[in-house]
Amino acid sequence: MTGASSGIGRAVALRLASQGFTVAVSARRAAELEGLAAEHERIVSFPGDVVDRQRMAEIVKEAEAALGPIVLAFLNHGVYFPAEREGFDADVAWRSFEVNVGGVINCLAPLLAAMEARGRGQIAITASLAGYGGVPGSMAYGASKAALIYMAEVLRMTYEPRGLKIQIVNPGFVATQMTDYADFDMPFLMSVQTAADIICKGLEADRFEIAFPRRLALFFKAARLLPYPLLLPLMRRAASRAQREG
Ligand SMILES: NC(=O)c1ccc[n+]([C@@H]2O[C@H](COP(=O)([O-])OP(=O)(O)OC[C@H]3O[C@@H](n4cnc5c(N)ncnc54)[C@H](OP(=O)(O)O)[C@@H]3O)[C@@H](O)[C@H]2O)c1
Repeated sequence: MTGASSGIGRAVALRLASQGFTVAVSARRAAELEGLAAEHERIVSFPGDVVDRQRMAEIVKEAEAALGPIVLAFLNHGVYFPAEREGFDADVAWRSFEVNVGGVINCLAPLLAAMEARGRGQIAITASLAGYGGVPGSMAYGASKAALIYMAEVLRMTYEPRGLKIQIVNPGFVATQMTDYADFDMPFLMSVQTAADIICKGLEADRFEIAFPRRLALFFKAARLLPYPLLLPLMRRAASRAQREG
């Protein structure tokens, strides 16, 4: 599991370990991973940066050698840079894509090879409701998550007939260090424990998408049916109302 050193990933790792899974956890902050591993005997730390393609391949090999075949990979790492609320910034945009999309690609390569050879396996990727379409202040983040949704759709169609289960996890606002910066109203803000509950139940189910909270997901899905002359002002108004209320 990537992105396990804090927030959603940390909570899901603990929940999966308590369900009896042996969980290989990864992220850059080794000390946080060690702290997590100390909380449950079934959690084992494999530190690494998802941008480092070779390290991701090594981790898959090391984890399988130490713990056995990976049956479920939860690719959950992600970054959001609040600076993008000020406007376009090329460095922020590139870094968002490098970590959010490049990091998933770096993990997918060794995972798909190993799982396809076995003819079974499950991969869940964390995107975001922001990936459904343009949200003010989220150009690079939302676009990187849109790319993940697209990738997961194609992976599902391609790899399901080969025995693999591919899922996309699309959260709304969850109270983690990623949303700590927020000085605006976050509709339907959810605790990390509730989010972890929903994700773990969804991972057991066969459906493609794990999207929550339901009402916010429905709002975004319904909004996408509108023509652009209605959709873009609606999204701009919703964002500035949240800003005023925050
Ligand atoms: N919180 C929300 O409202 C929300 C909403 C929608 C989607 N999401 C998504 O949910 C996922 C988890 O986010 P969170 O809210 O739990 O925030 P978080 O606590 O900041 O977790 C982000 C995780 O990603 C890891 N990470 C970041 N850059 C990395 C890199 N280069 N290499 C390896 N790991 C890296 C971080 O670990 P290190 O820093 O230790 O490397 C951390 O474990 C993300 O994909 C995020 O986009 C969150």
